[in-house]
Amino acid sequence: MEKIRVGVIFGGKSVEHEVSIISAITAMYKMDQEKYDIVPIYITKEGEWYTGEFLKDIESFKNMNLINTYATNVVLMFYKGRFVLRKKNGFFNKIVDEIDVAFPIVHGTNVEDGVLQGYLQTVGIPYAGPDVYAGVVGQDKVLMKAIFSKEDLPITKYEWFYDTEFKKDQENVLKKVKRLEYPLIVKPSLTGSSVGISTASNEKELIDAINEAMQYDSKIIVEEMVENLKEVNIAVLGNYESQKLSEIEEVHAKAKFLSYQDKYIGDGTIQGGAKKFGVKSGVKGTVKGGKTGMPSASKMPADLKPEVRAKVEEVARGVFRALGSAGNARIDFLIDDKKNEVYVNEINSIPGSLAYYLWEGKGIDFTEVLNDMVNIGVKDFKKRNGKTHSFDSNILAGYTSNGVKGVKGTKGKLSK
Ligand SMILES: Nc1ncnc2c1ncn2[C@@H]1O[C@H](COP(=O)(O)OP(=O)(O)O)[C@@H](O)[C@H]1O
Ligand SMILES: [Mg+2]
Repeated sequence: MEKIRVGVIFGGKSVEHEVSIISAITAMYKMDQEKYDIVPIYITKEGEWYTGEFLKDIESFKNMNLINTYATNVVLMFYKGRFVLRKKNGFFNKIVDEIDVAFPIVHGTNVEDGVLQGYLQTVGIPYAGPDVYAGVVGQDKVLMKAIFSKEDLPITKYEWFYDTEFKKDQENVLKKVKRLEYPLIVKPSLTGSSVGISTASNEKELIDAINEAMQYDSKIIVEEMVENLKEVNIAVLGNYESQKLSEIEEVHAKAKFLSYQDKYIGDGTIQGGAKKFGVKSGVKGTVKGGKTGMPSASKMPADLKPEVRAKVEEVARGVFRALGSAGNARIDFLIDDKKNEVYVNEINSIPGSLAYYLWEGKGIDFTEVLNDMVNIGVKDFKKRNGKTHSFDSNILAGYTSNGVKGVKGTKGKLSK
């Protein structure tokens, strides 16, 4: 049987660019080489697309000049019934490679947030992972919370506002926030890296925290803090029809919450257990916890009472379903360990390292998870295309470059 050509797309204009490289290389290494021909497609921070075998090795990313030399700058396009990677520059627009299905392994803004999926859907190629909608909602805490609360999924009490509203009428915004009880936590709405997140236990700190968060996004969230905090993560694999659940991991943050320093900078290396995947030196492995970050320690399975565990699993399915997610998402929970209250904090629609460790924790082979992700992507593509998206219509038939010609009721103006 001929192998399926899978284009693994990673990188992009995101602060989580480097994390995505690690996630993608881990996945490429673990994908079933009997079933797939893997075509790496790397998007630079400038937005240039590159392909080539060279991009399967973590060493290649230590020096960006090498990428220019050893990889080929391409564009992905639909060409005569095929999805091709065509050389971007040079005399001949040579076809360098072709793929059957795309597999985005990207994190953060400009990629994971539905933007890349939108592009792929415009080109018309099937892809693995969340669709545009699940990507968008998964990246915006305000949208996410609106849907969670509408679906009666347990979340902490919160308020949100725009930076402009705060600047114009601070008193009014603070009045709204007074409905909440201290301690509070203030976040920019765009999720991803704990950047701009701080806590407040009085109004002065609150104002400082809001000013800090406003540097990162125009939508600001203020929410009540969960006390006696225990954080747990679980991955969900599937689509809206059926879901599989991973093991639950307990995440121990060093500080009250993970800072950007903890997650990305730390001692200068990204830690974890990827060595066994053959990811070579330079990065100490794959990325765990947080959105993409590294907790100082984690415990698997999480130490939870049976009823709390059941609640986490039930809510995780509910979240995945409410967002119409697809692929393999990680859902993060905040638990009040004394009151045994469970709150969903966020969904990561394409989690760091694709949360391989949560699957392995349950004895599920990560290679199988990746297979499922490709299969779900192809199946959902067929389903999407099976729905009616256009009507045969001759509405444009009557138009000439001068305007109208006998199209009833439209008066010949396409736009005003
Ligand atoms: N309501 C809350 N109560 C207590 N801790 C919280 C709360 N919200 C967030 N945190 C802490 O802050 C961390 C980062 O917040 P999160 O919403 O996950 O942002 P990000 O999208 O940047 O990961 C969480 O992992 C958790 O440790
Ligand atoms: Mg988080």
